[in-house]
Amino acid sequence: MTQLKNDTFLRALLKEPVEYTPIWMMRQAGRYLPEYRATRARAGSFMGLCTSPDYATEVTLQPLDRFPLDAAILFSDILTVPDAMGLGLYFAEGEGPKFERPLRDEQAIRALQVPVLDKLQYVFDAVSSIRKALDGRVPLIGFSGSPFTLACYMIEGGGSDDFRHVKAMLYSRPELLHHILAVNAQTVTDYLNAQIDAGAQAVQIFDTWGGALSHAAYKEFSLAYMQRIVSGLKREADGRRVPVIVFTKNGGQWLEDIAAIGADCVGLDWTTDIGLARARVGDKVALQGNFDPNALFGSPAAIEAEAGRILAAYGQGSGHVFNLGHGISQHADPAHAAALVEAVHRLSRPYHQ
Ligand code: CP3
Repeated sequence: MTQLKNDTFLRALLKEPVEYTPIWMMRQAGRYLPEYRATRARAGSFMGLCTSPDYATEVTLQPLDRFPLDAAILFSDILTVPDAMGLGLYFAEGEGPKFERPLRDEQAIRALQVPVLDKLQYVFDAVSSIRKALDGRVPLIGFSGSPFTLACYMIEGGGSDDFRHVKAMLYSRPELLHHILAVNAQTVTDYLNAQIDAGAQAVQIFDTWGGALSHAAYKEFSLAYMQRIVSGLKREADGRRVPVIVFTKNGGQWLEDIAAIGADCVGLDWTTDIGLARARVGDKVALQGNFDPNALFGSPAAIEAEAGRILAAYGQGSGHVFNLGHGISQHADPAHAAALVEAVHRLSRPYHQ
């Protein structure tokens, strides 16, 4: 295996000493980059990018060629998993992802099964291809949606602002939702382990919608299933630990519980103070975050000030991976993303002396 030239990200996840705070950006390959839009046009569609290892490799590397980021993330989508389960993923122009066959009746739910992983071979091929193209520049992150977040799309049939169908099931037929979540948890475990086998050097579980649950329901319907995944993951490859990052958007109130499920790092959105979060989780985990992605709409001077504020709030020492608190906007200016990366690298050095 090629030696990593920059392993700052992996060391920060394990709270090992680093020279500066590493940074990557959620959705760093995407529509805010003109080169992404050009490749997407050549591929014909978003799924055309995801299903071709060559295109997926090309767009994964695009943000790294622009900015000195400290990690690459596999170009794919969380919804490839329910697609492999037979739900029929499609992207309606301007409407986001949708499923042809959402899970609405008991019969369809009972028939849901862990899919044959061969259906996701294009993802594992993309991982190997990206790893090869990176040639040790930075580590590669693999990812999946959380069981609950996947269930939201599978049951609603697309995005939702009230999760009406999911919550109707949760409160009236919880055993059906538990069945879906159990199938999802097993699938995600196998899927992430296959990404690790293919070359992913860290993995992140995206729980975008766990924060929409009530206090009691979060633990039972989201966190418990992420814990199941974390305990089933391979934690070493090529003689090195494969760190796991768990990110629940709007999960700030459950930090201690999230930190206790066995992951190496907890992702924060921008609504939590990272210094207070650090005090709450103690030495248990590293933290990732937590720059408001819409602060990129401010001036470069304001971006630098905000980055400096977050670095100061985290304070001295390792265990912080700088990131946005959610995905970068398609309307963000790439020059502002460049200013953020530069500021984090420069301003963080004193915190590691
Ligand atoms: O971070 C990266 O650069 C890796 C790529 C990545 C994508 N989706 C590419 C994508 C990752 C990690 C995801 C995860 C994802 N996908 C999540 C969890 C993280 C989050 O943002 O909350 C969710 C909920 C999805 C589902 C999804 N996929 C939605 C809601 C949408 C439409 C919204 C949008 O931004 O258009 C997608 C499509 C999608 N996934 C795009 C990209 C680059 C845009 C598609 C396009 O080019 O038209």
